[in-house]
Amino acid sequence: MGIHFDAAERVFCLDTPRSSYRIGLTDAEGFVTHLYYGSRVPDSNLRQTLWYGFERPTVYGETGDQVRFTGSIPSEYPTAGVGDFGTPCLAVETADGGRACALRYAGHRIYGGKPKLNGLPATFGSESDCTTLEIDCVDAVLQLEVTLCYTAFENLDAITRSARITNRADAPARLTSALSACLDMPNRDFDLMTLYGFWSNERMPCRRPIAWGRQGVASERGISSHEENPFLAVMEHSATQTQGQVYAMSFVYSGNFLAEAALTQKEQLRLVMGIHPNGFCWTLEKDEAFQTPEAVLVFSDTGLAGMTHTFHDLYREHLIRGAYRDKARPSLVNNWEATYFDFDTEKLLSIARTAAKSGIEMFVLDDGWFGERNDDTNSLGDWFVNEKKLPGGLKYLSDEIHKLGMQFGIWMEPEMVSPDSELYRAHPDYALQNPGRVPTLSRHQLVLDLSRQDVRDCIYAQIHAVLSSARIDYVKWDMNRPLANVWSAQLPADRQGELYHRYMLGVYELQERMLTDFPHLLLENCCSGGGRFDPGMLYYSPQIWTSDNTEAVDRLRIQEGTALVYPLSSMGAHVAACPSHTNRRVTPFATRGLVSLCGCFGYELDLTKLTESELNEIPGQLENYHTYGDIFRTGDYYRIASFAENGEYDVMMAVSKDQKTAAIVYVQVLSREKHPSPVIYPQGLDKTVRYRDSLTGTVLSGAGWMYGGMALPQMQGDYLGKLIILQATEA
Ligand code: DGJ
Repeated sequence: MGIHFDAAERVFCLDTPRSSYRIGLTDAEGFVTHLYYGSRVPDSNLRQTLWYGFERPTVYGETGDQVRFTGSIPSEYPTAGVGDFGTPCLAVETADGGRACALRYAGHRIYGGKPKLNGLPATFGSESDCTTLEIDCVDAVLQLEVTLCYTAFENLDAITRSARITNRADAPARLTSALSACLDMPNRDFDLMTLYGFWSNERMPCRRPIAWGRQGVASERGISSHEENPFLAVMEHSATQTQGQVYAMSFVYSGNFLAEAALTQKEQLRLVMGIHPNGFCWTLEKDEAFQTPEAVLVFSDTGLAGMTHTFHDLYREHLIRGAYRDKARPSLVNNWEATYFDFDTEKLLSIARTAAKSGIEMFVLDDGWFGERNDDTNSLGDWFVNEKKLPGGLKYLSDEIHKLGMQFGIWMEPEMVSPDSELYRAHPDYALQNPGRVPTLSRHQLVLDLSRQDVRDCIYAQIHAVLSSARIDYVKWDMNRPLANVWSAQLPADRQGELYHRYMLGVYELQERMLTDFPHLLLENCCSGGGRFDPGMLYYSPQIWTSDNTEAVDRLRIQEGTALVYPLSSMGAHVAACPSHTNRRVTPFATRGLVSLCGCFGYELDLTKLTESELNEIPGQLENYHTYGDIFRTGDYYRIASFAENGEYDVMMAVSKDQKTAAIVYVQVLSREKHPSPVIYPQGLDKTVRYRDSLTGTVLSGAGWMYGGMALPQMQGDYLGKLIILQATEA
């Protein structure tokens, strides 16, 4: 059991293989305080590290003492209005306008396994995988109960957190902030790391020293966003890829979020994560409860790589579900960059025939098959096939493609409505928009009010009809704009603050319904490229479209940032046409294939327009994918060299879990004439096993490779790549 209560010390001890977390109860007041998080320790009572007398915390001013004005006791779930001057996890407004809330310990439970979070995505685990602690707290004045939920994983250095808030008073309680987790700790010359970006450049790593005050990342766009990702890490300034302590938080949610690090003048650091309080409030009637989404805490004492491995294993084994969780994903060809809206059955089938001949396993029909849609100005919401473009409908096309021995997938954008659509003309109130205001269009479309059951039912009936009309093996669920001008015709004025979260619950419900009714489906979430690449989406779709930027060199950086948190098995990565549709760069077909090999492999181009020599490369690329794809999908990922950092070349490596095979993808972005080849130091090998290098035939022990290094092969020219396999051998 990874969790126990030391009754003598009044300390909860949460332990994972290499980390410990300690929660202390104060004797007199029953405050639930944070004592420790970090490398594994045998001790329970770690109160000695606190920077002032712990047994008489005076922060709430309720023990007859005065309130301290800077800093406060380290808290597991700080509340607003009673003297903790940092960002609170919980803020409550009572019917009389009061805004004070103070929680006291009331009881706890410890049990094996992990409960589901009703209506929300969350990690899961059996009794042998993890242990859960629920700490009940109360505010007796407000008659408010708060249950803090912690799960510690047996084999992973991950602890999940969420909170359930229940109103027991007769009068309603308005939550104006309900975050998921807080981590108070002394600062230790930490750096902060987050992932920032924008459309076509998502999840760029950004590392900087923590400064005084509040800093961090957030989204108020109704989606987790291209701009910021719901992830934050603090690490020792000296920490590297392989060394040093890292504390990370990742949010299993796809809407508005706040991920903040605040450094006080007393050198105390507070990390918080949860639904963004801006634009949020939630009314609880008597006995109603609010469940926060889940935040995942990961501790690593082996640098960023240790953190990454824990996230990858946790998300692959305890978040991603469904038929494709443990299966290789089919290689696919998607027609978007091949045809955009300009296609008919024959054009699609000619691409599919070429694909089938080359050995590609699935054909995906992207945007433009429904309603009157020949550009992006109309028809979202009208999910019936455009027979003028596709006579015989999806059924005919799907049958023809299956006859070629391929699977068939389609694109949908169920969360949207075009003003120029039958759906909007019949139900203008189905769209989110403030009455009396000019609608805020983006890509000519509005967002459906998925907080409403009737809207969800209407859209789901259409999804169901489409998926039942033909053999459809895969759905790309797109979402091409942020939420703005957000107002629901069905919510009362004092509940409009619930809309963003109710919208997300609606999206989750729709995807859950679809996967329940069509369990064989491979779902790929997408959000105008990678605008909703978050753990919440991974609960429904094992893979997510990484970015609309499909150009191989830019992709190196995008995939590197994404892989910091998200498994390679979740990254849609396609070989696209040249010159690139996003940045006009021209790179060799082979290099594009290598970069795509590190994710869910596919093609995003008109195969009929490829040169013969490019076409001839496809079977080899597919063979690589079938032979080594599993290592990238299930193995341990190492970032060996980063083009974003060195400006010349990129090396990423994946090692199979049994450490018998390692695949190294080397891309020489810019060549350096007459320079010696760079030497890299592979990682993750078994020191005692001997490995043969597929390029030179050299056989060395794992230790020999890792400590002695490997000279990268000489190549003349820019944008060239090589796949190097290290295979265990008896020789
Ligand atoms: C945005 C997606 O990211 C693209 O891949 C494509 O599906 C378009 N939408 C279609 O409108």
